[in-house]
Amino acid sequence: MKSLKDIAVSDKKVLIRVDFNVPLADDGGEKRITDDTRIRYVLPTLNHLIDNNAKVIVCSHLGRPKGEPDPAFSLKPAAARLAELLNRSVPLAESCIGEDAAQKIQAMQPGDVIMLENLRFHPGESRNDDDFARSLGEMGDIYINDAFAVSHRSNASVDAITRHVADCAAGFLLEKEITTFQKAMEKPERPLVAVIGGAKVSSKLGALYNMLEVVDTLLIGGAMANTFLKARGIDLGASRTEDDLLDEASRIMEKAKRNKVALELPSDVVLADKIDEQATTVNAAVDNIPGDRMALDIGQDTCRHFAKIIKDAKTIVWNGPMGIFEMAIFAEGTKSIAAAIAVSSAFTVVGGGDTVSAVHAAGVAEKMSYISTGGGAFLELMEGKTLPGVAALDRTGA
Ligand code: 3PG
Repeated sequence: MKSLKDIAVSDKKVLIRVDFNVPLADDGGEKRITDDTRIRYVLPTLNHLIDNNAKVIVCSHLGRPKGEPDPAFSLKPAAARLAELLNRSVPLAESCIGEDAAQKIQAMQPGDVIMLENLRFHPGESRNDDDFARSLGEMGDIYINDAFAVSHRSNASVDAITRHVADCAAGFLLEKEITTFQKAMEKPERPLVAVIGGAKVSSKLGALYNMLEVVDTLLIGGAMANTFLKARGIDLGASRTEDDLLDEASRIMEKAKRNKVALELPSDVVLADKIDEQATTVNAAVDNIPGDRMALDIGQDTCRHFAKIIKDAKTIVWNGPMGIFEMAIFAEGTKSIAAAIAVSSAFTVVGGGDTVSAVHAAGVAEKMSYISTGGGAFLELMEGKTLPGVAALDRTGA
C-alpha cells in the first residue's frame, strides 16, 4: 500500500474517506456521540494533512440509511465533534456530491477542513457504482483511505473510487491497523494464542479455519463453545447450540488436531434458567448440565485455565466475548479474560465491537497493545482475506 507519507499534499484537494460510523444517543431530539474513538483515531492523519497545507475534504457513512437523505443519519454531530477536536471550523456540505459541496470546496484555503454529508444518502455508494465513484472522485485531487472499519465493504467510496482519482494512498490509521495485524499473524512471537468467543460459530467459521493455520492455541468461549461441546457428545441442557453446524465443529476440531493446534473449550460454565439479571446462577462442569439450564458464561476453572495459557503467550489476538457480558451476572468470564490479557506481557490485539466494549468496561483498554477500530473488517482480516478497500489502493489512478 502506498502511504500518505509518500504523497505531496500541499495546496491539493485531498478527499479522505474515514469511518465516522459512531454510536449516537438521542438527547431529546439532539444526537450525542457516545464514543468518539473512531474520530480521534484519524486525527494524526488529518493533522498531517492540515500541517502540510492540504485542503481536507472528509467523507464518511453513518448507519444504514436507504440510499436517500435521512436526517436521522446526518453526519452533523460528527462534523461538530471533529471541529472541537481539531479546534477549527468544519463546515458540512449538504451532500457528498453536487453544487453545494463543489462551492464549499472551491472556497477552501490550504489547511481548511470540510465534511461531506453521509455517503450512503446515495444509492451508488453501497452498490459500488462507477458513476457515483467518478462524481465523488472529482471532488479531490488525491484520495486517502483511512477508513479501516469499512474497508471490507465494496462500496464506491472505498473501492470503485480509486479508478477515478489521479493518486491514492492509505492514511495512518489504515496503515496501522493492517501492519499491526500482520505483525500478530505473519511473524508472531510464539506461542500465538487466539481467543474467540461470541454467540455463533456460523459468523466465525472463516476466522476459525484461518486461525488454525497460524496459531498455537485456540481458546473458544461464548455460546459458540456450546456447539463444539455438543459435537463432542456433551449434553448442553437448554443451552443455545447451532445443531446444523455440529459436523462443521467436528471438522474444525479435527483440523486443529492435524495442524497440532491446541483447541481449548470450557470445562465448566455458569448456568441459569433464564437470560435475566435476576436469574440464579450456578457454576457447573460441562458434563453436569441439567436439562432446563443454559450455559451463559465460562466457569471459574475455565477462567483459571485460559488465564494460564494467556500468561504464557507471547502474542494474543482476541475477538468475541466469553458470555452474555452485557449482564453483570454473566460478565465474569469475559472480564477475567480481559484482566488476564491486560497483565500479560504479550503483544495483544483486540478487535470487534463487543470485545472492545468489554475491554473498556473492564477498565483495561490502556493495557492492550492495540485496539482495532474494526468490527466486520477485523473479522475479515482474521479470515485471512484481503480487504477490498486495501486492494483498491494498489490500482493506478485515473
Ligand atoms: C462498522 O461499523 O462495522 C462499519 O462502519 C461498517 O458498517 P456497515 O456494517 O453498516 O457496513
